[in-house]
Amino acid sequence: MDKENKKFKRTLITSALPYANGPVHIGHLAGVYVPADIYARYLRLKGEEVMFIGGSDEHGVPITIKAKAEGVTPQDIVDRYHNIIKDSFEQLGISFDVYGRTTSETHRRTASEFFRRLYDKGEFVEKTSMQLYDEQANQFLADRYVVGTCPHCGNERAYGDQCEACGTSLNATDLINPRSAITGNVPVMRETSHWYLPLDKWEPRLRKWILEDHKEWKTNVYGQCKSWLDMGLQPRAVSRDLDWGIPVPVEGAEGKVLYVWFDAPIGYISNTIDVAPDSWEKWWKDPETRMLHFIGKDNIVFHCIVFPAMLMADGTYNLPDNVPANEFLNLEDDKISTSRNWAVWLHEYLQELPGKQDVLRYVLTANAPETKDNNFTWKDFQARNNSELVAILGNFVNRAMVLVHKYFDGVVPVCGELTEADRNVMEEVRKAVEAEGTCMDAFKFREALKEAMNIARAGNKYLADTEPWKLAKTDMERVGTILNIAIQICANLAVAFEPFMPFMGADLAAQLHLEHLSWDMLGRFDLVKAGDTIDKPHLLFEKIEDSVVEAQVNKLLATKEANQLAQWKPAEVKDNVEFETFERMDIRVGRVVECDKVPKADKLLRLRIDDGMGGRTIVSGIAKYYKPEDLVGQEVCFMANFAPRKLRGIESQGMVLSAVDADGRLVVIGPNGDVRPGSSVG
Ligand code: 2FM
Ligand code: ZN
Repeated sequence: MDKENKKFKRTLITSALPYANGPVHIGHLAGVYVPADIYARYLRLKGEEVMFIGGSDEHGVPITIKAKAEGVTPQDIVDRYHNIIKDSFEQLGISFDVYGRTTSETHRRTASEFFRRLYDKGEFVEKTSMQLYDEQANQFLADRYVVGTCPHCGNERAYGDQCEACGTSLNATDLINPRSAITGNVPVMRETSHWYLPLDKWEPRLRKWILEDHKEWKTNVYGQCKSWLDMGLQPRAVSRDLDWGIPVPVEGAEGKVLYVWFDAPIGYISNTIDVAPDSWEKWWKDPETRMLHFIGKDNIVFHCIVFPAMLMADGTYNLPDNVPANEFLNLEDDKISTSRNWAVWLHEYLQELPGKQDVLRYVLTANAPETKDNNFTWKDFQARNNSELVAILGNFVNRAMVLVHKYFDGVVPVCGELTEADRNVMEEVRKAVEAEGTCMDAFKFREALKEAMNIARAGNKYLADTEPWKLAKTDMERVGTILNIAIQICANLAVAFEPFMPFMGADLAAQLHLEHLSWDMLGRFDLVKAGDTIDKPHLLFEKIEDSVVEAQVNKLLATKEANQLAQWKPAEVKDNVEFETFERMDIRVGRVVECDKVPKADKLLRLRIDDGMGGRTIVSGIAKYYKPEDLVGQEVCFMANFAPRKLRGIESQGMVLSAVDADGRLVVIGPNGDVRPGSSVG
């Protein structure tokens, strides 16, 4: 444990349980799972006792909506996505000690008992209120079962629990013009009763605990908590009228289930019980256990206010020590969106870029949205791989190991007397590893990663400055010293990068014949013994070619086009015109007899038209959609009395009519049968 955390013996790390209504994407990874895994691996390297909890969140309205839309059961949906998510996390090397699910029997029992304890202690307030009800579907409309206009920003597609446009949390009854998401009907109001957790009761304690005792929390987290607390906390309903979820364990509560945000965080507890049935309480109740919640910013209120209030109401649990929440990751400058399929899905990445788990982990950490929203682009992904992983890290390790094979047959040479250059590089490595550790302790993983890369940078500079290949003819002893140090730097790199890129860390350790890695190896220069053999190196990273990222960008472009098509609506009809106005337009049929590109104009084609009157030239902006030879021989409609105008020096004597498709493509209009050139259209 580092100095500040001396009072703790062990750390329980939780990572937000993703909803099992879709796969996980890079936004989830960058915000939650990669940082949580980095931290868990870091602590394990330090020899600390760690429990890293993950699992799927399998309740809530979106799951039932998806099931209805597909004509399957909610259980079918969560079974499908739980497996996809679990497999893809495993392949990415997210080192959960347990990955559970909230439809498990352990969880049902744990969440029911938790509710029941609070109920028996009188910690809930039961209240009757009017809620939205769909008379056709015969059900109350909780959370995402209602859509309507956001009272804060006017977004017409806000949900009953949240407006995604402005991020405000809502109650279904706040929505203006609410409609049922099931039938589209306008709901009626009907009376129902629910159990509420009186957050107002816990407000003074929450205030002190966060605002006074946890000033060290990240500014974004502390700030969001402060603003919730300053607005004043209200009682929160912890039950819903739904048929998917954990039944409220109270007599007479038929048809009511626990609110998904009540049961989900209890999932952390149930999953601990599953993996450590005899010792789970030590992880949750022993004051010497430190608890950390890794989450995205949309989950802050639930982890810093609602769940702690639940734990306070129980009275036997620890509270989180820190909640290092991240901001959001955008994709190619646009908000990641499941409904618009604007995402890089982890399971697809793993299939399409096999063996590149570490590259994704690296790029997502280097660009992590730690203090502000950040952006992922495929160009940056390629650049970071090629110019950092390949050119700096991979290059150094490869050079050092190749030289040991070239001059010493793969046997690590003896380190002789040290020069100033040797002492300098050792000092630089020591500084970098120390800084890396400090950043890790402060959850500043971007900075920590930079420090790890600085070790490789220092190594490259050291080899470039000392030029062992030049000394090989004259001073093999000196060459031996340099390469011994270079190999020790490689060993440092295996440790320093392990939390970030575990596959590469293990691979490098194996090539160097290091049996195990631990954080206290860092800064040491006796990790690989002189006389030990190392493997012939194979490359740690390979260059990513343009074609690979182009394929990914094209996939996104196709998504964008599909979204445009899906959202396309015909333009509004213009104001009426009288027949006389219409009649003034002289539209005719013509046949294209010649067609060529207008030089130095990408968009323009020059068409020579047989108009039955001796012919005319029309310049048209359709070059992106037609090859000249495709148009020759075609009949087209054109406006014959369109005032002539010059385009790129060519007089255009009319306008060819075309339709604009949903994707902006122009399609030339012609007659639907045989008509002589020159015939009028009207
Ligand atoms: O926002 C989400 O994806 C939620 N499923 C997170 C739940 S975190 C915890 F409480 F389980
Ligand atoms: Zn809004």
